[in-house]
Amino acid sequence: MIHIRGLTKRYGGTLAVDDLSFDVPPGVVTGFLGPNGAGKSTTMRAIVGLDRPTSGSVTVNGHRYQDLRAPLREVGSLLEARSVHPGRSAYNHLLFLARSNGLPKRRVEEVLELVGLRAVARKRAGGFSLGMGQRLGIAAALLGDPSTMIFDEPVNGLDPEGIIWVRNLMRSLAAEGRAVLVSSHLMAEMALTADRLVVIGKGRLIADTTVREVTEGAGGGRVLVRGADQLRLRSALEAAGGSVTDGAEGALLVEGLVAPRIGEVAHLADVVLHELTPQVASLEEAFMELTAGAVEFRAGAGRPASGAPGATTATGATAPTGATAPVRAVAGTGATSGTER
Ligand SMILES: Nc1ncnc2c1ncn2[C@@H]1O[C@H](COP(=O)(O)OP(=O)(O)O)[C@@H](O)[C@H]1O
Ligand SMILES: [Mg+2]
Repeated sequence: MIHIRGLTKRYGGTLAVDDLSFDVPPGVVTGFLGPNGAGKSTTMRAIVGLDRPTSGSVTVNGHRYQDLRAPLREVGSLLEARSVHPGRSAYNHLLFLARSNGLPKRRVEEVLELVGLRAVARKRAGGFSLGMGQRLGIAAALLGDPSTMIFDEPVNGLDPEGIIWVRNLMRSLAAEGRAVLVSSHLMAEMALTADRLVVIGKGRLIADTTVREVTEGAGGGRVLVRGADQLRLRSALEAAGGSVTDGAEGALLVEGLVAPRIGEVAHLADVVLHELTPQVASLEEAFMELTAGAVEFRAGAGRPASGAPGATTATGATAPTGATAPVRAVAGTGATSGTER
């Protein structure tokens, strides 16, 4: 479990992270999404004490990282995959980490097996490919069998097989009850890996929500319907209070009625249904709506008056299409579209 409250990190004139608050709960994969330069790596370094916050607090299982006695047993991290002495073998790198945290030698063998590096365990890490380096980093993160794990862009440089492997690993670690935070600048990757989604832009929180809420919310609550008699179905739906427009290939797009109600209306009108599909946007489309909403709110209303964290995270921004995204979208001064940069 990770708690981040009011985290701010300034590097000289650059505000890398700006008053960021969110939690990483156990049992799910929390995706940490934002464009390059958004502040993801800085936030993750602050979690493991590699960066000292300018202000705010970060705790892992209720403690500051610096106060953890055997940190690898509490939180595993993959941050910079290349942070291995090039002359050291994979085995010795892990053995050194294990020794410094009071972990048994056999655990080194176990994690090497887990990440598929057993065959090259005695080779110099300096000769590893990027993908092998990522696997070694993941082995180090797993070493202490920690309840909290953070991975910064873990699929970077991996081949398709490696990407699927990492994705399944993240999901199984969460299924075992661990708190898993994984960052990416790729929305499609997050849609496949994460349950929850923390979206940041320019160091500020844009949304703290679930993948499902984002995609369903951005679908605008529309339902695509096809029936044996479209004319009759259309008038029945309109009579029931639905607003109907023409969809692709003769389908009807219905707003204002949920799918079960549409099924009932069709039944009462004696129209056989051939299709009844609630419209769900891709995460990418949803993300655009979400960030557009946040920017729009910012332009219209400026910064919320209260400085309380709750006040800046529950605005329910309305997307330009009129679809209300049921998410905690943030109307902050620095929140802009994630597609910039
Ligand atoms: N050590 C550093 N010194 C100065 N600026 C930094 C440093 N680390 C990151 N930054 C700046 O902070 C911002 C956030 O960077 P980063 O956390 O790496 O973003 P992300 O991981 O989301 O791509 C960027 O503008 C970056 O240039
Ligand atoms: Mg980064």
